[in-house]
Amino acid sequence: MLFDHLTKQLGKPRQGPWGWMVKTFLERKSRLLEVNAVKLCDIQPESVVLEVGFEPGLGLQEAAKRLTLPKGKLYGLDYSEYMYHVASRRLQPDIQTGKVTLFHGSVEQIPLEDNVVDRVFHCNCYYFWPTLQSGCREIYRVMKPGIGLMVTKLSVEYLKKLVVAGLLRDTKWPPELYMAALCETRFVDVCMEHKQDEGKPFQAIFARVNKARMCGLPTSIIWVC
Ligand SMILES: C[S@@+](CC[C@H](N)C(=O)[O-])C[C@H]1O[C@@H](n2cnc3c(N)ncnc32)[C@H](O)[C@@H]1O
Repeated sequence: MLFDHLTKQLGKPRQGPWGWMVKTFLERKSRLLEVNAVKLCDIQPESVVLEVGFEPGLGLQEAAKRLTLPKGKLYGLDYSEYMYHVASRRLQPDIQTGKVTLFHGSVEQIPLEDNVVDRVFHCNCYYFWPTLQSGCREIYRVMKPGIGLMVTKLSVEYLKKLVVAGLLRDTKWPPELYMAALCETRFVDVCMEHKQDEGKPFQAIFARVNKARMCGLPTSIIWVC
């Protein structure tokens, strides 16, 4: 019961003591994952970038530093109204210049036109999407063909510990499920790499968009150790 409540708060933090605890925990725990996701995205000054599930906005801050107006642009989308307000405060200077725009909403309905985003990243997020397929389809829709790259960061080791502790019940956290959904959605070059930073192991899943080419069946997933 308690763990199910905590899982719900992780998936959509609400204003109040529980939401505040989740926010504070992730501010301490997730900086490394977020910073690494941004590094691996290969963001150029003129890139158009989207983060899904930005929570307190640490990854957004890191990505914003790499972008230059007028072409460089950062979008963020999060399902939690509380987190939308927390990140809006954190990113206020860049929101005012127009470099950053934040949305409160679900990955199932991204308020952007087709084919406008060069880079997408998200950390510890897909486990909570209503369905992996609908989230992947919507991200695919907004990404530019040919050059679009998405980076997903997670720590499988850490997730397994959470699952053993009783968290993440009824979520779709296993990366195989997510990678299969990416392939079904026609992302190409889907692969997972094992990385380390500051002695901490984590995984990065890469997926590219080439709207002329199909990934094929989930068997084409590549695991790089
Ligand atoms: C566990 S937190 C991870 C936050 C941050 N990326 C990190 O690693 O610290 C998951 C975040 O994803 C957001 N989220 C969950 N489901 C979502 C959805 N369907 N669309 C957009 N954001 C979603 C939640 O509101 C929450 O802020």
